Amino acid sequence: MAEARDDREAKEDAMRLSEAEIAVHWKEESYFYPNARFIGQANLTDPSVTERFAEKNFPECFREYADLLTWDKYWTTTLDTSKAPFWKWFVGGRLNVAYNCVDRHLGKYGNKAAIVYVPEPEDEAGQTITYNELYHRVNEVAAVLRDFAGLRTGDRVTIHMPMVPELPITMLACARLGVIHSVVFGGFSGEACGARIVDSGSRVLISMDGYYRSGKVIDHKANADIAVAKAESEGQKVEKVLVWRRFPDRSASPTPMVEGRDFVVNDLLKPHRGAIVPPVSMPAEAPLFLMYTSGSTGKPKGCQHSTGGYLSYVAGTSRFIQDIHPTDVYWCMADIGWITGHSYIVYGPLALAATTVMYEGVPTYPDAGRPWRIAVRLGVNIFHTSPTAIRMLRKVGPDEPKKYPLNFKCMTTVGEPIEPEAWRWYYENVGKGQAAVTDTWWQTETGGFVCSTKPALDPMKPGSAGPPMPGIYPIIYDEEGKEIPAGSGKAGNICIRNPWPGIMQTIWGDPDRFVKNYYGKYNRNPTSQDWRDWPYFAGDGATWAPDGYIRILGRVDDVINVAGHRLGTKELESACLTVPEIAEAAVVPIVDAERGRVPEVYVSLKPGMSADGVPEKVSKAIETTIGKIARPRVVRIVPDMPKTRSGKIMRRVLASISNQMDYGDITTLSNPEVVEQIRVSVQGKEKVATKAGPDDIKRFGETT
Ligand code: WT7
Repeated sequence: MAEARDDREAKEDAMRLSEAEIAVHWKEESYFYPNARFIGQANLTDPSVTERFAEKNFPECFREYADLLTWDKYWTTTLDTSKAPFWKWFVGGRLNVAYNCVDRHLGKYGNKAAIVYVPEPEDEAGQTITYNELYHRVNEVAAVLRDFAGLRTGDRVTIHMPMVPELPITMLACARLGVIHSVVFGGFSGEACGARIVDSGSRVLISMDGYYRSGKVIDHKANADIAVAKAESEGQKVEKVLVWRRFPDRSASPTPMVEGRDFVVNDLLKPHRGAIVPPVSMPAEAPLFLMYTSGSTGKPKGCQHSTGGYLSYVAGTSRFIQDIHPTDVYWCMADIGWITGHSYIVYGPLALAATTVMYEGVPTYPDAGRPWRIAVRLGVNIFHTSPTAIRMLRKVGPDEPKKYPLNFKCMTTVGEPIEPEAWRWYYENVGKGQAAVTDTWWQTETGGFVCSTKPALDPMKPGSAGPPMPGIYPIIYDEEGKEIPAGSGKAGNICIRNPWPGIMQTIWGDPDRFVKNYYGKYNRNPTSQDWRDWPYFAGDGATWAPDGYIRILGRVDDVINVAGHRLGTKELESACLTVPEIAEAAVVPIVDAERGRVPEVYVSLKPGMSADGVPEKVSKAIETTIGKIARPRVVRIVPDMPKTRSGKIMRRVLASISNQMDYGDITTLSNPEVVEQIRVSVQGKEKVATKAGPDDIKRFGETT
């Protein structure tokens, strides 16, 4: 009995705790239609795409994507399911990613801009790197990695760098050698980087001395020292640290170089000037990179992405959804340190021979007109960014876009649901009412977009991610695995029934966790080799409208989406526990007008401990273990955590209190009295009158 109750409690807790519960519920909006000028030039205008990618043509339909690439050896099996759910795409095929993103364009586009780099200081000259120049720079770095750092095919290397052209150049140099890169977001702390070095088993760390952020030069080299120390304390020796220089003639960091371990890449390159390193022909299923992301447990997971499947998928989706042509100037205003940047700043656009723009700094620096000045100066005609950035730019500079002759043909958003209000501002002011806008739903794990409108074919609907991408067959299940049909108006767990080429291959070093995490919930038969038995569990709540448009409501697990970036509550909580005074910690998401969600922290103290300075210590601990991005809005000290009788902390109760909601039924808790005590300390004596329904979310901070 007790077990059954615990189980039920756990289930209820999991359901209620979800962000979906406090998710935004907008009314269904009406359609906007793409204009004729856009349709006239678009890559994807043939409605038969739906038929071509229909289930009866699966998996062969994905040949269409793979055929966008240049293969050294054509594949023999499109999809091998024999080791389900470890899908293998394009088996027997061989190719090199750097060759596909650089070398093969030289004949036709050698003298065309591949990467245009915009430094943050507005008076610093940018860089335009042509495909010819990119080719040489990638080759020279590959020579350093191979001949100086001793890196070989299959080795892992951790890259902790800011938004500078040396970052994609380093990634492509790795890809050229078949070295698996693990790029860690530059804003993550040295410790977070160290933990990823350990997990991936990297012997080499590639870093940079410094970079600009909001007008200041950040000492980034200091993070490399912390990362190496952290890795070594956990048994992973880092033999070499390769440090790029932000300025050609001086170091941007006061942190000294460690003799015999640290090397300036710019110096190492000198003897390799003009070197040519032949691209290593890799099997399609060889891993291309790892990208760490947060999940429900404390340890970030290394999502492993493949060579042939991944590149095919990002090339295909960049072409179909972002409508990238080689003549376009495309700007994805995101960071390469996240999957968005990997797929849609580096690999997708370069595979299509586009010109991809990179910006070093903060979108609102020195003012909210900056992105629009960059776009006008460079002639950007495709723009990709996050709802967070849009909300921010709208808040600080609602009239800025009007001042500039922006000329976007299409614009995409990614990372979180976009409020119809923010969507309309983006469409009317930034897109001047003429750009097609698509909202793309996907994840680190999915490699590329999985839901989005097809810009020249489907009408746009603000607030909806849109129909599934071609060749993606989603399904929404309830907790018991019963299908929630489109048009039912109910929310459930969105899954994708089939594999697709961009899906991650495994969690690095932890295949069991991979199976359990993504397939455990709805798998029908653990020994089955039929993909139909393995729905992919995305971890998001969603509803499916009668018109086939999917609306993503948010995470159903212990993940908080802060400004479009994923943070695991468990990771934050374990950071809190490094503060000696803390007995227990619980982290909950609160709704924030700009950043979507931000973490709020509840802690209880060990007996006899003083609360003096504890909130500051907790904030600092989070910043050190994860990074500034995870800093909590508030740290609240409570006498005890609300708990179930089995001792589980009820985060949903705390989340309700933080979000100014009624906390609902707490009679099953072991200590209900503490809940009211906490509520009064957060919300004040007066009780929140109504039990919050989904629409009430607007009352606590949504701008719309
Ligand atoms: C989570 C994945 C994939 C790029 C950036 C984030 C949320 C992503 C949307 C969207 C609503 C979205 C989901 C998802 N999400 N795109 N268009 N509408 N929610 O990658 O860090 O792996 O986070 O971001 O909750 O699961 P990520």
